[in-house]
Amino acid sequence: MKADIILGCQWGDEGKGRIVDLYAADYDVVARFGGGDNAGHSIVVGSQELALRIVPSAVMHPGVELFIGGGTVVNPQTLLDELGRLEAIGIDTSRVKISDRAHIVLPHHVMRDAAAERERGSAAIGTTGRGIGPAYVDRVARSGIRFADIGNATLRPFDKLRAGLAQGDKGAQGDKGGQDDREMLEAAGRLAPHVVDGVEYIHERLYDGKRILLEGAQGTLLDVGYGTYPYVTSSHTIAGGACTGLGIGPGSIGRVIGVFKAYCTRVGAGPLPSELHDERGEKLRRQGGEFGTVTGRPRRCGWFDAVAARYAVALNGLTSAIVTKLDVLTGFERVGLVTSYRVGDRSAGFSAAGEPDLQMDVEELPGWSEPISDCRRIADLPATARAYLQRLQEVLKVPIEMVSVGRERSQLAR
Ligand code: IMP
Ligand code: MG
Repeated sequence: MKADIILGCQWGDEGKGRIVDLYAADYDVVARFGGGDNAGHSIVVGSQELALRIVPSAVMHPGVELFIGGGTVVNPQTLLDELGRLEAIGIDTSRVKISDRAHIVLPHHVMRDAAAERERGSAAIGTTGRGIGPAYVDRVARSGIRFADIGNATLRPFDKLRAGLAQGDKGAQGDKGGQDDREMLEAAGRLAPHVVDGVEYIHERLYDGKRILLEGAQGTLLDVGYGTYPYVTSSHTIAGGACTGLGIGPGSIGRVIGVFKAYCTRVGAGPLPSELHDERGEKLRRQGGEFGTVTGRPRRCGWFDAVAARYAVALNGLTSAIVTKLDVLTGFERVGLVTSYRVGDRSAGFSAAGEPDLQMDVEELPGWSEPISDCRRIADLPATARAYLQRLQEVLKVPIEMVSVGRERSQLAR
């Protein structure tokens, strides 16, 4: 059996959580492979809304095993809180397992994140402030602490901790920082019943023919290597990150399903070429409820960007696509689509996204005013909505297998 991937193909917040929640019914294991509690996956089930940060978005399926892979950085307190909230609504959390290779986010990482942002001044990235970047820095610097190191006397985690502190900024040092970090390591210790040998865990399940779904976090254009650097997160969010984040080979990957919102959003700073600074952007934000799950920040909004989308199809080797929040475009007289970039008189690819003199060609298609949230078949959508999807299909060149038309679990058209 091969593992399938579902990942975001824009700047995060494409609505992956509810898609993973839906698809999880057909899988035995759902695994996260990167990121940490910078992610905010919300799923709506009836009147309940669950906001998840670290636990994979398949918690509502009691039979599914949930795995937090070695490519992640985990804040133990966030995870303990999340597990507590899930247990409070009757969800069995004993099936949540954490790779021993996953790194631990400590309070000094959070402080270093804030200090680095202050240092950047007007060039601040607008991070989620969760210490994600510094935790990955320590991982690469070989001074991080993994779940494998907890309770392992020979690795002397507290010595490693001091090494990590020494690399931090002034604000992260002193007794307070050290004290908080020790408390956080104790919290990590409380997660011990969930910690497994992450490589054995995933390979046993692949070998046993278990159906495995790999859940991306953030989005393709926030990838540390291929996103809008330096306005990116600190992990590999693209499909390749699933292999390194779980310790599996590319031959073990089956389908790669990309999630695209019907328009673009971005939270934090950095290029968003199709951004609308007028009332249309405001309307997208209002109709789409575009405010961050983690930070509550208003998201920047713009039209669907075909240049960025083609780039994401290529980077991930997508086999199919899902388009979310099509209903948010209802009520626009004309719906725009960025079809190409130009710099001066030359056409340009996505790498030009941050160029100050970037110009774009925007195609405008007729909109629709009828509500579409009750449509369950793509064929039932208004003709103009179908024409818009048809345009996306031409751009993506991979089949669109589903379209979401509302927040509810059932509001999907195929
Ligand atoms: P960091 O991941 O907290 O370091 O933030 C780096 C950039 O990625 C910032 O622009 C964040 O807003 C963005 N980011 C991180 N995680 C997410 C996410 O789950 N959704 C959307 N944006 C995110
Ligand atoms: Mg999110």
